[in-house]
Amino acid sequence: MNDATTALDNSFRLDGRVAFVTGASSGIGQALALAFARAGARVALTARRVDRLAELAEVITAEGGQALAVALDVTDRAAITRAFDDVAAQLGIPDLILNNAGVAKPALFLKTDAATLESTMATNFTAAWNVSQEAARRLVAAKRGGSIINITSVLGIGVGAGHAAYSASKAALAHATRAMALEFVRYGIRVNGIAPGWFVTEMNTDFFATEEGVAYLKKTPPGRAGRLEELVGPALLLASDAGSFVNGVILTVDGGHHAALV
Ligand SMILES: NC(=O)c1ccc[n+]([C@@H]2O[C@H](COP(=O)([O-])OP(=O)(O)OC[C@H]3O[C@@H](n4cnc5c(N)ncnc54)[C@H](OP(=O)(O)O)[C@@H]3O)[C@@H](O)[C@H]2O)c1
Repeated sequence: MNDATTALDNSFRLDGRVAFVTGASSGIGQALALAFARAGARVALTARRVDRLAELAEVITAEGGQALAVALDVTDRAAITRAFDDVAAQLGIPDLILNNAGVAKPALFLKTDAATLESTMATNFTAAWNVSQEAARRLVAAKRGGSIINITSVLGIGVGAGHAAYSASKAALAHATRAMALEFVRYGIRVNGIAPGWFVTEMNTDFFATEEGVAYLKKTPPGRAGRLEELVGPALLLASDAGSFVNGVILTVDGGHHAALV
């Protein structure tokens, strides 16, 4: 009984793995980067606010882990290559990718200007595409397997008024996830997504502090926002050998919100 439990626990470990996390400076990315480090991975923390990455790296190091803070604007294709070069030299070839960097600029479809559409797609979709391509090319060349996790959204499954650009970017990322899963499985690289429901982070904290926001959350099927730690188990499953035959899945983590019609 104990042996079986130990084997189960170990299959979720990430010892020897090198994680590359985008948007590690706050919210979901910060929480999952820390979780990956606690599960044994060496973690490359990337984002534009490098001071925050340095703080997180200090926390990880103080706990006995290994982390590297790397300044990266994911909309800069050349910078992605440079970041991978840097991480490969200092931590090893990344074999666990968390495409988490994202932006939300709510606007009704008829009021969404070209710049909003472009920047939303560039950050939420094209950047994850480019990071995945960079990572997979290196893994294939090194004949190594890995796991890519793309953070999509319940708004990539259903839609809500005022979120057209965001929803479209996340639906595109979900489909790219399936396409990559199909093509990369022969190389031992799995590609999955996590579609979070509502989690209170810097992206939406202003709205959820309003009466309207509080009332909205109460009306959702779970009646509350998720807690960041509730994303850790699902992410470790997709990241680790515990999920070795899970590929091309978008795992919804939303307390059942997506199942409702309204
Ligand atoms: N919170 C929710 O309810 C929810 C629900 C579904 C999906 N999501 C998704 O979860 C992901 C994380 O969001 P969050 O809720 O944790 O929000 P957040 O706290 O605002 O974090 C967003 C992260 O994205 C990074 N980022 C944005 N633009 C970037 C760029 N051009 N280059 C590099 N990094 C960039 C930010 O870092 P810097 O500003 O330091 O660069 C920050 O670390 C996003 O993809 C979001 O769409 C969130």
